[in-house]
Amino acid sequence: MNLKTVKDIDFKGKRVIMRVDFNVPMKGGVVQDGTRVTAAIPTIRHIMAHGARTLVLVSHLGDPLKDAPKAEEKAKAEGKAFDREAFFSTKYRMRPVAAYLAEKLGTPIIFAGEDGDFGKKAFIESKIDGAIIMLENTRFHKEETAKDAGERDKLAKELSSYGEIFVNDAFGTAHRDHASTASIAKFAKTSVAGLLMETEVQYLEPIVTSPVKPLVAVIGGAKVSSKIAVLSSLLKNSAALIIGGGMAFTFLKAQGHKIGKSLVEDDQLDTARQILSDAAKQRVDIVLPLDHVCADKFDASAKPVPIDSCDLSDDLMGMDVGVKTLETYKKVLDSAKTIVWNGPVGVFEFDAFAHGTEELAKMIAEETGKGVITVVGGGDSVAAVNKFKLADKMSHVSTGGGASLELLEGKKLPGIEVCKA
Ligand code: 3PG
Repeated sequence: MNLKTVKDIDFKGKRVIMRVDFNVPMKGGVVQDGTRVTAAIPTIRHIMAHGARTLVLVSHLGDPLKDAPKAEEKAKAEGKAFDREAFFSTKYRMRPVAAYLAEKLGTPIIFAGEDGDFGKKAFIESKIDGAIIMLENTRFHKEETAKDAGERDKLAKELSSYGEIFVNDAFGTAHRDHASTASIAKFAKTSVAGLLMETEVQYLEPIVTSPVKPLVAVIGGAKVSSKIAVLSSLLKNSAALIIGGGMAFTFLKAQGHKIGKSLVEDDQLDTARQILSDAAKQRVDIVLPLDHVCADKFDASAKPVPIDSCDLSDDLMGMDVGVKTLETYKKVLDSAKTIVWNGPVGVFEFDAFAHGTEELAKMIAEETGKGVITVVGGGDSVAAVNKFKLADKMSHVSTGGGASLELLEGKKLPGIEVCKA
């Protein structure tokens, strides 16, 4: 890993611009889950403790310019008035996130204002030494996500003028080639990774390049189509691949099993067959559900029906894995020295169908205690470990959804590449 990081930099007297991923769930202007905010605190403390003059934080929060026209159209169709400012304030304004950070950090954060205009340089320079300043949501600038590199460069150049050093700690947004995540490095004198970015890369990159073997990968979630690239990538290094969740039914159908009315992607059956045949050639053990917990409808109140068979009747849909499957998971996980988990193995959002995912999370947590490297990535599996209060029992829980998936797919991420030596 040839990342340059904040540890390689002398910050004394320097102005720093740092990209963070504070894209957190908001409700009525209130932060609902601040994990990503607190995850950036070690880097903020490091920079300030090493004598930086000013630290300017920049993040996106949702996608206001993309979402507003849709919301306006919807309001119009419903015959309601559309209050653009009220819409922005509910979940796109950075001020409440700045307040949240200030509370967690125990240090005041200067919010640079809601206008989102270019030309914040004078404002920033007027601030006293040691100031931490947060800019408004960078996606209020259309240049941030512009397809045209020249357009992105306009904003990138402006942002880079706020500091001599660019620190990228926004792992969650590292897969985006945007003005504040990647283009800015063209204009910054120095670009380095923050401590969060470093930790994320340290845990996730070796899974694809050189894991401590045997590696067991657990891939779940609804759709095969969104996980083909990661399945193919993980096949290369895995001893076993546990495939669970809705996507398992496409594989079971491809093997000729009856899947009742379970979720299936018929256009992915050939892909599933290809992955099964590649796995056989590469001697990777594919673990599919052996039994299920089913329901007659996709509903939180549906009655759980245990089925001690791989095959299902036409009136049932698989919602969770059964006990036999969990016993197999245990054996397979026990053989690992590294475990990577992306995607739940059941509809864990519904309590009646959360058992399999909870047991899996517990098993992985137990393996951590035995010295196995355990890495959890992807929005839903992270939500699951948080729901079961097991996040601190894993070696690493990623703050990135799309970013961790793309890294596991073996892709190079723009936000990481700019921090490489
Ligand atoms: C995320 O939540 O995955 C990141 O913050 C990236 O957000 P985006 O998908 O809106 O680019």
